[in-house]
Amino acid sequence: MITEKVKELLTEIDQSEVTTEEALETFRLRFISKKGVVADLFGSLKEAAPEDRRALGQTLNELKNRVQERFDKFSMKLEEGSSNDTESSVDLTLPVVPNQTGSLHPLTIVRRRIIEIFERMGFNVADGPEIETDWYNFGALNFPDNHPAREMQDTFFIEKGAGDVKDDVLLRTHTSNVQVRLMEHKKPPIRSIMPGRVFRNEAISARAHCIFHQVEGLYVDTDVSFKDLKDTLFHFAKEMFSKDSQIRLRPSYFPFTEPSAEIDVSCFICKGAGCNVCKYSGWVEIAGSGMVDPNVLSNCGIDPEEYTGFAFGMGIERIAMLRYGIKDLRFFTENDVRFLGQFKGA
Ligand code: DAH
Repeated sequence: MITEKVKELLTEIDQSEVTTEEALETFRLRFISKKGVVADLFGSLKEAAPEDRRALGQTLNELKNRVQERFDKFSMKLEEGSSNDTESSVDLTLPVVPNQTGSLHPLTIVRRRIIEIFERMGFNVADGPEIETDWYNFGALNFPDNHPAREMQDTFFIEKGAGDVKDDVLLRTHTSNVQVRLMEHKKPPIRSIMPGRVFRNEAISARAHCIFHQVEGLYVDTDVSFKDLKDTLFHFAKEMFSKDSQIRLRPSYFPFTEPSAEIDVSCFICKGAGCNVCKYSGWVEIAGSGMVDPNVLSNCGIDPEEYTGFAFGMGIERIAMLRYGIKDLRFFTENDVRFLGQFKGA
């Protein structure tokens, strides 16, 4: 009885075809589940004559294995089929969706380039606060109290200090505050550049803004000379603008440097012939600089008898305007994609 039933089932199994998930489930329910036909047959074993049981058990086990084999084969086929499906559902003739990548802001490009050039000369990058006390922005940098130089930089004051000007809280007007913080905490040699945002109470126009960016540079060690300053900035100008760039130093005044100099670079647009970028002078100003005033060194706890240093500061917007021929500062903050999109790959 059982043997016959097994024969029938084997034929049924061999002839069955499964092509869908539903059919696979029906197959599983009929043959494999605990309530399926094979389990039923195992259940009826106990009704068979004891001497036949062993042989019948073996036959049933073979049936069970056969069922499992078929089931595994069907489910593998179905899986393969479903992965082929995704391939066939991709239409390779459809047009490509254009990749809308953004571009770096020109100020980011120029800031990174400045950092790269100075890093290769052994400078590291330092950072400092934008909200500062009078001491770090002015006092320690040798600006005497009530000196008109403080008014040269139209300061945004935040809070009056209790009595002493040096505790007044303000938005830094330049990145030179970071020089002071560095020298206060670090023993020379110090060779750092300090990029950052600065704030001045100016009306916004094509040539002025109340928020802009500077990069400060500072090198303090034994025997740092004016020649080191000149060579460093000459190298910078060649790397930043053109390998034929020349620089010239004009005497200037900053409270925190002595002597002080304004750095001009030869106009890389007209090569000195005269154009409206250099206002027909052949030169464009790129930085303020000088030898760190001994008073500044002592204010920061560095012995001016033992150490000397040079410092410089440049505007990132100014360098970007020169480099890309941008005529209006306001472009940098208007976020007009027609402007920003021009710096892709720059
Ligand atoms: N702090 C100056 C400014 O904002 C720029 C400057 C000039 C920085 C000379 C320096 C320097 O370190 O030595 O106009």
